[in-house]
Amino acid sequence: MESVKLLNQSQVSEFILMGLTSLQDIELLLFALFSVIYLATVLGNLFIIVSVFTPNLNTPMYFLLGNLSFVDMTLASFATPKMIVNLVKNQKTISFAGCFTQIFLLHLLGGAEMILLVSMAFDRYVAICKPLHYMIIMNKKVCVLLVATSWLSGLLHAALQLPFVVNLPFCGPNMVDSIFCDLPLVSKLACTDTYLVQIVIIANSGMISMSSFLILLISYSFILITIRSHYSTGQSKARSTLTAHITVVMIFFGPCIFIYVWPFSNHSLDKFLAVFYTIVTPILNPIIYTLQNKEMKTAMRKLWRVFVNSRKYT
Ligand SMILES: *[C@@H]1O[C@H](CO)[C@@H](O)[C@H](O)[C@H]1NC(C)=O
Repeated sequence: MESVKLLNQSQVSEFILMGLTSLQDIELLLFALFSVIYLATVLGNLFIIVSVFTPNLNTPMYFLLGNLSFVDMTLASFATPKMIVNLVKNQKTISFAGCFTQIFLLHLLGGAEMILLVSMAFDRYVAICKPLHYMIIMNKKVCVLLVATSWLSGLLHAALQLPFVVNLPFCGPNMVDSIFCDLPLVSKLACTDTYLVQIVIIANSGMISMSSFLILLISYSFILITIRSHYSTGQSKARSTLTAHITVVMIFFGPCIFIYVWPFSNHSLDKFLAVFYTIVTPILNPIIYTLQNKEMKTAMRKLWRVFVNSRKYT
């Protein structure tokens, strides 16, 4: 009897996103804070994307940076607006399809971002360790190939693990204790043994974050060693670009590795870590690249002037 009843109500039609807190005052505060951050993220990244098309910034590094900004902007947009609206709504529901769309987009964009960060490390490696061959190695074709590879990897990464979760039986409860739907939390709600799914998540998400991180760590170590041994003074520009890259890498990968290499350990912490890679990282690139980078600042100043002048004459 029990099992028949279970089968009958086997699919929940929607999930409830519990968010970061249930205290209303804090929710209002977060609403204001996240709204401002989100707006700044979109504007900042848009500004980078537009700047990158100005002639001065027509180098492989900025080509990749422009694409990273695009990924960042979408990574900030696939779940955060809904999360912000949910902060002031009583019904914090998300449809079954919406929930799995979020999972798919998170892994598509997250995977693309990881491989793009690896591509940017490769670009810096060639620029600093093989400077004479830079323009030959990093030609237009290679740049486009790197961007295409990152999107393809993200797509594969997302498409390979989604089927394992979307077919699980969900018969309630349907409370997702986070700000958006993600694999570990949602699969935990399935009313069946999810051992296989856990293995898939660790093998796929855990592996891609861990291996990208290790590759990045090794390539940046190489670069740092090269800088130290070849250039004694000057080189502050190279070093500041590198510091920027390494900061982004740490802040993005730290939480990812924590969540996916041990996906079923500590759930109450996961939702706070999720803030790092959907809200903090996407705004970090604009901040870091505009504050630390002279070329970028010049390009932005020029753009701003064009913008102001165009308004004068209209
Ligand atoms: C991103 O990559 C595509 C193709 O690989 C390229 O056409 C585009 O200009 C790049 N975008 C930015 C903002 O640089």
